[in-house]
Amino acid sequence: MGRKTIPDFVQMAKDGDKVTWITGYDYLTAKYEERAGMDMILVGDSLGMVQLGYETTFPVTMDDAIRCCQAVRRGAPNTFIVGDMPYMSYQISNEQAIENAGRFIKEADCDCVKLEGGGPEICERIKAITGAGIMVIGHIGLTPQFAAQLGGYKAQGKSTDNIKKLLQYAEDIEKAGAWSLLVEGVPAVTGKIIKKKCDFPVYGIGAGSHVDGQLIIYADMVGYYDDFTPKFVKKYANVGEVLQGAFETYVKEVKEGVFPEDAKHAYKIDPEVEKEVEGWIEKM
Ligand code: KIV
Repeated sequence: MGRKTIPDFVQMAKDGDKVTWITGYDYLTAKYEERAGMDMILVGDSLGMVQLGYETTFPVTMDDAIRCCQAVRRGAPNTFIVGDMPYMSYQISNEQAIENAGRFIKEADCDCVKLEGGGPEICERIKAITGAGIMVIGHIGLTPQFAAQLGGYKAQGKSTDNIKKLLQYAEDIEKAGAWSLLVEGVPAVTGKIIKKKCDFPVYGIGAGSHVDGQLIIYADMVGYYDDFTPKFVKKYANVGEVLQGAFETYVKEVKEGVFPEDAKHAYKIDPEVEKEVEGWIEKM
């Protein structure tokens, strides 16, 4: 099946057909994600932690993001791919935002971009990027690029004041021209009211079950990234344990001379040639 389009996603939301969205940062993982039938892949700036080993998303550069998007596109040629705009790639000016959003489309064949934040400045950027013909997903709630303003990496939308603020952000982002919204780290009822208030698709990561689709960080859900696991993650596998076990067995077998077995893991040679070479070895 071909790549889904934004009209497909709008229709899915109308039909109550939930979107499956997952992060991906590399060729191999993207290949498995596409084979599993994911609707969308986000090349999130979480690549900073998951792929590059930073403690936060702040150090991620445009070049890091583009390189990962290109690899994901090679692994998932038929999946809708969202490029995540890194910290300070869109905050400075409309021109900077358009130029960097354009790189995701031009250099990595992404289908749209996502950017974090609410408020008038962010809406100005969304207007500018969509004005240049690039589709945008807004992102509100627990937005890591704004952690300092939020008082840390804390769940949002828990007080009536904060819920009202998020509802205003959602309305303004829709008006600014974003085609959909991602809500992160809020109670289920907050996700529910934001979804109710908006006419465009509303997706969630840690925003409960009432939204139009779910996003999850792949390395969390397969039990690969174990530095920290958010409350809203469900683990579907334990890849970390599988890898650890395989690596430890390999180390043991090489040390003990169990691997490789020449009859199984080495190239064949003409027996005559082998015999002659063995003769040379004996004389050495
Ligand atoms: O970078 C990312 O993976 C994200 C999600 C956590 C929403 O932005």
